[in-house]
Amino acid sequence: MMPELASGIEKVLFTQEQIEQRIGEVAAEISERYKDKNLKLIGVLKGSVFFLAELARRIRVPVKIDFLAISSFSNKSGAPGLVRIAKDLDDSIEGEDVLLIEDIVDTGFTLRYLLQTLSSRGPNSLAVCTFLDRNSRRIVQVPVEYRCFEIPDRFVIGFGLDYNQLYRNLNYVAVLKPDRE
Ligand code: IMP
Ligand code: MG
Repeated sequence: MMPELASGIEKVLFTQEQIEQRIGEVAAEISERYKDKNLKLIGVLKGSVFFLAELARRIRVPVKIDFLAISSFSNKSGAPGLVRIAKDLDDSIEGEDVLLIEDIVDTGFTLRYLLQTLSSRGPNSLAVCTFLDRNSRRIVQVPVEYRCFEIPDRFVIGFGLDYNQLYRNLNYVAVLKPDRE
C-alpha cells in the first residue's frame, strides 16, 4: 500500500517495505563479515539515526554503537567540502572494527574527512555503510563497502534525511517537488 504522502512531495523512491527488505539483506552481509570481530557502528548525526537503528536490529553479531556529529560549511570563496566535528565520539575506537554509518554519500567530502579522522585513531578496521549513494555527484573518491540504494541526482528526504530539518521521520524516501529543492 502506498503511504499517505506528506505535503511537498513529488514521488516516493523507496517504500517502507523496500527499505526494510534491503536493510535486512545488508545486515545479513554485515553479520557474516563481522562474526568473531569487535563490531562498532558509528552513526553520523542526525541523518543516519533511523537507518542505524533499523540496521543494528537486524545484525546478528554483538555490536557497540557510538555517534558523532559534523558540521559542513563553505570557505570564503564558496568552495564546499569543509567539515568539522561538532560532537565527538564518546569512546575510543582503538582496536575495534568500525563500520561508519552514513545516510547519504554525495560529493564524498564529508566521508573523506571522517575516514581520515577516524583512521588516525587506530581502529583494527574501518569500513563504510551508507543508506543512499548518489554516485553521479561524487567529487572525491571514497571507499563505500555497503550501500542500500543508488539514487538519481535529485534532492531526497525521509528515513532520516531532512530538508531544513523537516521530513526525517517519514518512513519512506521521496523526492521533493522542484520548488522545494
Ligand atoms: P557530501 O559531503 O557531499 O557527500 O555530503 C553528504 C551530506 O550532505 C549528507 O550526509 C547529508 O547530510 C547531506 N545531503 C546530501 N544530499 C542530500 C539529500 O538529497 N537530502 C538530504 N541531505 C543530503
Ligand atoms: Mg549527513
